[in-house]
Amino acid sequence: MLSSDHPLITSLYILASVLFIVGLKMLNRAATARRGNLISGVGMLAAIVATCLLKGISFQWILLGAIVGSAIGAVASYSVKMTAMPEMVGLFNGFGGLASMLVAWAEFHKWRGLGWEAYLRTLGAGAPDSSLFTAVAAVFTAIVGAVTFSGSVVAFLKLAEWITGRPILFRGQRLLNGAIVLATLAAAAAVVVQRPTGGAAYAAFGAVMTLGLVLGVTSVIPIGGADMPVVISLLNSYSGVAAAAAGFIILNNGLIVAGSLVGASGLILTNIMCKAMNRSLANVLFSGFGAVETASSSAVQGEVKPVSVEDAYYILEAARSVVFVPGYGMAVAQAQHVVRELGQLLEKNGAEVKYCIHPVAGRMPGHMNVLLAEASVPYEQLVEPGDVNPVIDTVDVAIVIGANDVVNPAAREDRTSPLWGMPIINVDQARTCIVLKRSMRPGFAGVENPLFFKPNTRMLFGDAKASISALVAEFKSE
Ligand code: TAP
Repeated sequence: MLSSDHPLITSLYILASVLFIVGLKMLNRAATARRGNLISGVGMLAAIVATCLLKGISFQWILLGAIVGSAIGAVASYSVKMTAMPEMVGLFNGFGGLASMLVAWAEFHKWRGLGWEAYLRTLGAGAPDSSLFTAVAAVFTAIVGAVTFSGSVVAFLKLAEWITGRPILFRGQRLLNGAIVLATLAAAAAVVVQRPTGGAAYAAFGAVMTLGLVLGVTSVIPIGGADMPVVISLLNSYSGVAAAAAGFIILNNGLIVAGSLVGASGLILTNIMCKAMNRSLANVLFSGFGAVETASSSAVQGEVKPVSVEDAYYILEAARSVVFVPGYGMAVAQAQHVVRELGQLLEKNGAEVKYCIHPVAGRMPGHMNVLLAEASVPYEQLVEPGDVNPVIDTVDVAIVIGANDVVNPAAREDRTSPLWGMPIINVDQARTCIVLKRSMRPGFAGVENPLFFKPNTRMLFGDAKASISALVAEFKSE
């Protein structure tokens, strides 16, 4: 067994870090994403091998953890429905935070039992002889890990609709949150001042973790369901920050690098999500947006015009340019494969076909990209709202497949709408817009969609997969 500063261990952790960075870079493009994922996986293997070679590793606990964890993970992955994947991913983020919090707790416990000098020796050669540094890293990890865990559980409950997606607000909420933050910092200061050996240090550490858990709940409940994309990516970033901080306690370079990468990429994603919704992070976190049922000031005008599959076929058959706009309903219907088939038939018929993906379409970042990649839609046909909107008036048909909020013109037209200001895909400005959904029910944000009442919109009611399959059959029968 080797010490943590042994050249082999250092080399393996450097190799793992390089592979993480290369893999992450490759995730940037759909064409290289699969290989990037594999390369990052090899990096993780190198990090695991390095950790298993370390002195003082107790394999029986690792083995037990691996068996129990794998069993739970396997059952959960097999039994979860594809549409429940976003909340599952959200929950996994939370477990990352919980793991970091438990590492902080375990190290605190060990330090208390051994005393600083003996504990320092367990950290290996080259460990900085600073109990202040380790104590700060421990409380920081415990706070961020706890907030990540309980915040992710609340996000999970909101996404799974086990609790209301609306912001939960009450009088004095900000005051309460401020008081919890102050109390957490006071408990953390008590731990740092006493280090684990002080009389009340254990109670103070317990208070840090408990208050962190409460803070995670109280800071996510005021955020509305429509802002969950930002919350999920922010919690993802927190889980990385907690892991990196845990790396500073146990002085593990692999954990520090991997955690920092997750933290930084989560922050970049948060920024992308905020931009996609035209909101500032502070506004998302503190405004309790969407708390009040905002009756649309401009009552929706126009009438709904349902269309039959046959008529929709004639419209598509004559189209020279078609833009598919997928949304959450495509994931529910699992319609991606038939969508791809219809796209191919339209191309064969001479139309130019594009797939326009809104950054917050679906229920998790990249949801639509994953589904369309699974159906082998060519990457060059995937475009962003910024590419399509300037030329949308030249598009013959925009087909909206189970998307709602991301094509809601109220975001542009109605200042009182909770969606106001969110950049959308302007399908209402295409020559014809065909919307595929099962009913007139609203989307995730719970607001009515004036698109369905526009003169150039046709509603093709029914399950998206069934409707597209019927259109495919029409094309094939010609
Ligand atoms: P939504 O606004 O949620 O609309 C989905 C639509 O799909 C619904 O109106 C529903 O109408 C329809 N649908 C459901 N099942 C269907 C089926 N089997 N066949 C056909 N249609 C079906 O979706 P969106 O436009 O993708 O917008 C995403 C929303 O989720 C945004 O508000 C976003 O902020 C939020 N959100 C996003 C994320 C991320 S990270 N992407 C995370 C959390 C929340 P019917 O019931 O009438 O069929």
